[in-house]
Amino acid sequence: MSKVVVFDHPLIQHKLTIIRDKNTNTKTFRENVNEIGSLVTYEITRDLQTKEIEVETPITKTKARVLAKDVVIVPILRAGLGMVDGIQNVIPTAKIGHIGLYRDETTLRPTKYYSKFPIEIKDATVLIVDPMLATGHSAIAAIEEVKAHGAKDIRFVGIVGCPEGVKEIQDHHPDVDIYMVSIDEGLNEVGYIVPGLGDCGDRLFGTK
Ligand code: URA
Repeated sequence: MSKVVVFDHPLIQHKLTIIRDKNTNTKTFRENVNEIGSLVTYEITRDLQTKEIEVETPITKTKARVLAKDVVIVPILRAGLGMVDGIQNVIPTAKIGHIGLYRDETTLRPTKYYSKFPIEIKDATVLIVDPMLATGHSAIAAIEEVKAHGAKDIRFVGIVGCPEGVKEIQDHHPDVDIYMVSIDEGLNEVGYIVPGLGDCGDRLFGTK
C-alpha cells in the first residue's frame, strides 16, 4: 500500500494558505507554488540512498557522500510545471521529463498527447509532479506512462489532494508513495477540489 505523507511544517502550511486565497495574484501564486516545491523536496528525498566517493578538498583527500541514483522530475502538463523550478533548485542535477494529457470527451479518460523522458528514467528516482490530485486519473495515466518507459522507483508529489485521488493511486499503484501538503474534503460536481485553490494551471499562468 502506498505511503501517504502530508506535510504539516508551518512554513509549508503558511504558503498553502497564500495560494488558497483567491485574492493572491499570479506572481505571488507562482512564487509560492515553487517555494512549496522546494520545501517538500527536502522531505521527499530524506531517504534517498547515497554512495561514497573520494573528493579532494583544498587541504586533503577525503571520502564523502553523493546521491547514489539520478532523480528525474516529471511534471504533468501544465500545472506540474509550476513546481519544477522549486524542486530543481534543491536538486540541480535532476533531469526533467514531460507528460501532457488531455481529457478525451467521449471516454472522459486522460489521453496522452506528449511524453518525453530522459534515458536515465529506468534507474532513477522519479518524481511525478502535479500540484492538484483530484480524481487521480491523470496521476494514474502518468504513472503508467513512466512505468512503460521502465521507471521502477516512483513518487507522486502534489500540493492539494482529496481522498478520491489518493485512493485511486493506492488502488492502481500501491508501490507509488504520495507526498501532499493537504488532503482536502473531496471533489465538487465539476471535479474541483473543495476547498482547494481553484484551477491551478489558470492561476499559475494567468489564463483566467
Ligand atoms: N485541477 C485543478 O487545477 N484544480 C482542482 O481543484 C482540481 C483539478
